[in-house]
Amino acid sequence: MASKYIIAFDQGTTSTRAIIFDKSGQIHGIAQKELKQHHPQSGWVEQDPIEIFEDQKQVFYEVINQNKIPVKDIAGIGITNQRETTVVWDAKTGKPVYNAIVWLDKRSSDICDILIEDGHEDNIIKTTGLKVDAYFSGTKFKWILDHVPEARELAKQNRLKFGTIDSWLIWKFTKGEKHLTDHTNASRTLLFNIHNLEWDDTLIKALDVPKSSLPKVQYSSSDFGYAEYKDIKIPILGVAGDQQASLFGQGGFKSGIAKNTYGTGCFMLLNTGKKANISTNGLLTTLACTLPDEKIKYALEGSVFVAGASVQWLRDKMDFIEQSADTETICNETKINSGLYVVPAFAGLGAPHWDMKAKGSIFGLTLDTDKNALTKATVQAIAYQIRDVLEAMVEDSGQQMKALRVDGGASANNYLMQFQADILNAEVERPEMLEVTAMGAAFLAGIQAGIWTKEDITEIRDIDQIFKPKISQFERTKLYDGWKHAVERTKTAHA
Ligand code: G3P
Repeated sequence: MASKYIIAFDQGTTSTRAIIFDKSGQIHGIAQKELKQHHPQSGWVEQDPIEIFEDQKQVFYEVINQNKIPVKDIAGIGITNQRETTVVWDAKTGKPVYNAIVWLDKRSSDICDILIEDGHEDNIIKTTGLKVDAYFSGTKFKWILDHVPEARELAKQNRLKFGTIDSWLIWKFTKGEKHLTDHTNASRTLLFNIHNLEWDDTLIKALDVPKSSLPKVQYSSSDFGYAEYKDIKIPILGVAGDQQASLFGQGGFKSGIAKNTYGTGCFMLLNTGKKANISTNGLLTTLACTLPDEKIKYALEGSVFVAGASVQWLRDKMDFIEQSADTETICNETKINSGLYVVPAFAGLGAPHWDMKAKGSIFGLTLDTDKNALTKATVQAIAYQIRDVLEAMVEDSGQQMKALRVDGGASANNYLMQFQADILNAEVERPEMLEVTAMGAAFLAGIQAGIWTKEDITEIRDIDQIFKPKISQFERTKLYDGWKHAVERTKTAHA
């Protein structure tokens, strides 16, 4: 077969990348750009949609040019993206009516409060598998409609388009021909019925958003139009939200497999098979990647909003470290006093606590607490948050979790992975190749292009290291009890 490369577009919260995979699943080249974040008010997070598209185009061209890949050998593109981040644009001009409102942004929390007061909560949970929280796209879309003067007028003229980042990129790359999304991204909007796989009229009415603005929803592995490289058309054959893409890339298309990705946030997903289990322990129910001719599969998800972002905070706001990788040595060399906890509720608390208005806090400061101790406590908080989520998952699924598959930038940190295994009392399994999210998207496209089957993923996936728990149960309980206490004191109910 002549066509033997797939390009993944990985548009994440803090960076935009293009990665070339060859037929053996190996990375052939990467191009990357950091993405600017804007914080116009406390709790608000915005990005420039034009910059997102231009960056994606730039890295797409760069990765082909630098690696001298004959374009005719590229079988397709898979797009994976930060989920929930909302873009609204005018179809006629192709211009966004407002900046992208990022998933971490809390400005629509009052809209959520009103939805709850008006009695919509139960129906929203049952229909979408989500929570009434500012995290999801629906209330961000409503905020734009309510605050951008021309938005409702454009909607009346049938010119207003809503999308998550996947839809926005597809629209721009196909030059306004396609307004599409996939099941995984649709399932994060608060507007999509995850049981009948349709936009839900009751929720559309409750949120007062125009149905005509919503994209058409397709299988994650299907035909999404073409992106052009110097007038040559390359088909977009796969699309999925980044967390579902990494579940797929980890081989998590079988029920019972769980993965955790350490990115800006941390997202643990457990494939629960054909049944949509609605959590009673603060988790989300979400759609796993979908393929034509296959049964729809669901996942339980524990979304932790701040993980890598807290390490960036140590670097950019506190000046404690020069680069994220410094944390590994600091953690290994620093002893911290028991009782020191950083609760990084910088964007409220996500699963399993769901407290939109909580703010970050530090407990247990003593006169000998220095910046290294605070750095270590911040890194440990990532692992504690995953334990919170895992406990909920065990409760919901009735399954004990003996091993967790990990990926994402911070999974390269050996200290964090060992501490994770210690705190969970479970094995932590790290693959050789940590670009699992991009690989998942590449696989979705490659399956559609006919160059891979799902079984190939399992064969390609190599394990780099398994971290086994080493501390005693007494020590584990003492550490984790202290964390739980700190989280309780961080919640707004406590304030
Ligand atoms: O739900 C938000 C998530 O998709 C963001 O992922 O990798 O950009 O932190 P990431």
